[in-house]
Amino acid sequence: MDVDGRVREQAVEPEKLTVRSAQRLWDAAPGWLNTASYGLPPRPAFQALQAALDDWRHGRTSWEGWDESTTRSRNAFARLIGASASDVTVGGTAAGLVGMVAASIPDGSTVLAPDIEFTSNLFPWMVHADRGVTVRTVSTADLLNAIDSDVDVVAFSAVQSATGEVAPFDRIVAAARANDALVVVDATQAVGWLPQNWTSADVVVVSAYKWLMSPRGTAFAYLSPSARQHLRPMAANWYAGEDVHASYYGPPLRLAGDARAFDVSPAWLNWVGLAPALELLVELGVDQVHAHNVALANRFRAGLGLPPGDSAIVSTDIPGAESSLAEAGIRAAVRGGAVRVSFHLYTTEADVDAALNALTS
Ligand SMILES: Cc1ncc(COP(=O)(O)O)c(C=O)c1O
Repeated sequence: MDVDGRVREQAVEPEKLTVRSAQRLWDAAPGWLNTASYGLPPRPAFQALQAALDDWRHGRTSWEGWDESTTRSRNAFARLIGASASDVTVGGTAAGLVGMVAASIPDGSTVLAPDIEFTSNLFPWMVHADRGVTVRTVSTADLLNAIDSDVDVVAFSAVQSATGEVAPFDRIVAAARANDALVVVDATQAVGWLPQNWTSADVVVVSAYKWLMSPRGTAFAYLSPSARQHLRPMAANWYAGEDVHASYYGPPLRLAGDARAFDVSPAWLNWVGLAPALELLVELGVDQVHAHNVALANRFRAGLGLPPGDSAIVSTDIPGAESSLAEAGIRAAVRGGAVRVSFHLYTTEADVDAALNALTS
């Protein structure tokens, strides 16, 4: 109180959201160590989707309300990667977005990619073999040194799906720039937890159902303004129109002047289930998520006697892992003897310790 007996108003700083407080928004059953396969929604996203499903079922609303979630998601994604929303297009899958870029490269182009690349960033290039597009694959370790003046496109994952390896992103971009090659990044396993200078690439494609915790069927691409000059909007449609609501019928062609020209018309309800999750990630900030996820991954590594790493995904050969994990109720991916576990902001130390217990006892 001041001398007049009035209660002095305090400037109340809004409390910064922490991973620990955000974790209360999830209802994950213990033992989900497979975000590299699909991510789990926070309660606000799940509830928004349920409400929209109910409106859909009863025909209570028009679609425009659902579509606001697409705009909210585009804006939040842009903030997450440090881009302008006008440079972000929306799609349904990573492969669909890569396919649009691949269809736009000149006949006879050479594409360089890692040999373990997830095929959503490989097959879309390979289908252009008949017009002379060559896809050269090398090991992830050799990718950087394989970038030379014969390469027209470097296509790679920022984080490898199979192994969790984090690519030397800045060095690859620099080598590609030095050789005038287009840089097309699949950041599906990275955006949402890995801080990176994303807009230094030409194209960054992200399927949102893993680390961005969307229902399946939403994807984004950052398309740099200079790259867009060479891209053809292969799926041109009403939603990509300059004025969406004046683009339903008839010519002329009247697409948006920015990255929206490349949009596909959105699967509305999936976007309703995505927007709150993305906004939460933006509020938390990628740095906090990165620190949490990598700390858990390193707790897991230490428990197995492995040196610390830099990824939220750990892949390691452990004989009998599949049955040990299944018996303990731990859900992870096991491929050809290698167990792949992944840790996101809703993962707890108890999840990690339960997995270690199952694998080491
Ligand atoms: C690196 C990577 N890219 C893309 C995808 C999925 O791609 P799409 O959206 O084309 O199904 C996955 C799924 O595992 C992935 O690991």
